[in-house]
Amino acid sequence: MATLLIYGSYGYNGRLIAEEATQRGLEPILAGRDREALVEQAADLGLEHRAFGLSDPGAAAEELADVDVVLNCAGPFSNTADELVEACIESGTDYVDITGEIPVIERVKRRSDDAEEAEVTLFPAAALSSVPMDCLAAHLVERMPDATDLALGAETFRPPSVGSITTLFEGLEDGGAIRNEGRLEHVPAGWKSRRIDFGRGIRPAVTMPLGDVSTAHYTTGVSNVEVYVFAPPPSRLALKAHRYVAPLLATGPVREGLKRLAQVLREGPSKRARERGTTYFWGEATDDEGERVVSRLRMSDPYVVTGACALAVAQRVLDGEVGSGYRTPAGEFGPEFVLGIDEAEGFFDEATP
Ligand SMILES: NC(=O)c1ccc[n+]([C@@H]2O[C@H](COP(=O)([O-])OP(=O)(O)OC[C@H]3O[C@@H](n4cnc5c(N)ncnc54)[C@H](OP(=O)(O)O)[C@@H]3O)[C@@H](O)[C@H]2O)c1
Repeated sequence: MATLLIYGSYGYNGRLIAEEATQRGLEPILAGRDREALVEQAADLGLEHRAFGLSDPGAAAEELADVDVVLNCAGPFSNTADELVEACIESGTDYVDITGEIPVIERVKRRSDDAEEAEVTLFPAAALSSVPMDCLAAHLVERMPDATDLALGAETFRPPSVGSITTLFEGLEDGGAIRNEGRLEHVPAGWKSRRIDFGRGIRPAVTMPLGDVSTAHYTTGVSNVEVYVFAPPPSRLALKAHRYVAPLLATGPVREGLKRLAQVLREGPSKRARERGTTYFWGEATDDEGERVVSRLRMSDPYVVTGACALAVAQRVLDGEVGSGYRTPAGEFGPEFVLGIDEAEGFFDEATP
């Protein structure tokens, strides 16, 4: 059996994914930098573990010598992806992660030629961001092949995990981002707002720099991409305020304080909350003439979707179905890929938007 190693396996998402992988009979190796946490988790799940940090990619490559696929769940990925990608290219190990960070996806993509030479797959963003919206984007472009603009979005009520909050704070300096004429453009946080029917009535939404700004562009070739999330009024105000307080928030002490607060506040959504969660995805393609098509998708809880997407991608890579170099979900497997994952019932196409 091909060998899967889950790095960051004792974090919130890592734990969910390791448990689900075990239930699927994958027997992953658990890994990360905290030996104590790994020993405990490995005993619980009856799995092998490996403790190693990432400061020396050469040493990390040695730990990966007998591993076929790494699934990186250790975020913020701005601190782990470059190092693990380097180690994977050195050891000839395929790389998958669950980042939603645009700069990380862009940097991983820039290693594509090196990875191809080493015959290694690089598959970042195999998660809520970017599998569903990447597939939705590809589906929309099938409906409208000459689309020039894509707007994509997601709505969920799920509060984020500590790791997601920490990652958000890590990315504070960058504000927002959109894809404009093929290039990444930095814009203020919550730059644009619009009212969107994600699938259960019209809701206020704002632009958000999710990884789909990168993946949807690379998958479809559409030059203009904006990604929106549902944003109730208090969060819209907070995002607007962020433009003015960002320089303060980005200072080390304030950011560290916010991260510690996040740690105190929550352990991550409970099992019960995850069982009840739903995520609504919406996408719109527009052409030069102003014609537009709209499609939607409905899936379960964001964290359940993330785990299911990560394992669906990892399984395909383990099975040797994915080529080397940088890959995107729908670019590799087609738009229908998402329909085989976690209760996605099909694309809901709006006939006359
Ligand atoms: N793309 C998406 O849709 C999506 C969905 C869900 C989550 N995410 C992202 O996934 C990440 C993990 O979320 P989470 O809720 O699982 O976070 P978490 O509970 O804080 O877990 C983070 C894990 O990463 C490890 N880690 C962090 N920095 C590290 C470093 N420099 N070297 C080695 N290990 C490191 C941590 O280990 P230590 O305890 O040793 O620090 C821990 O195991 C976040 O960045 C989140 O934004 C993305």
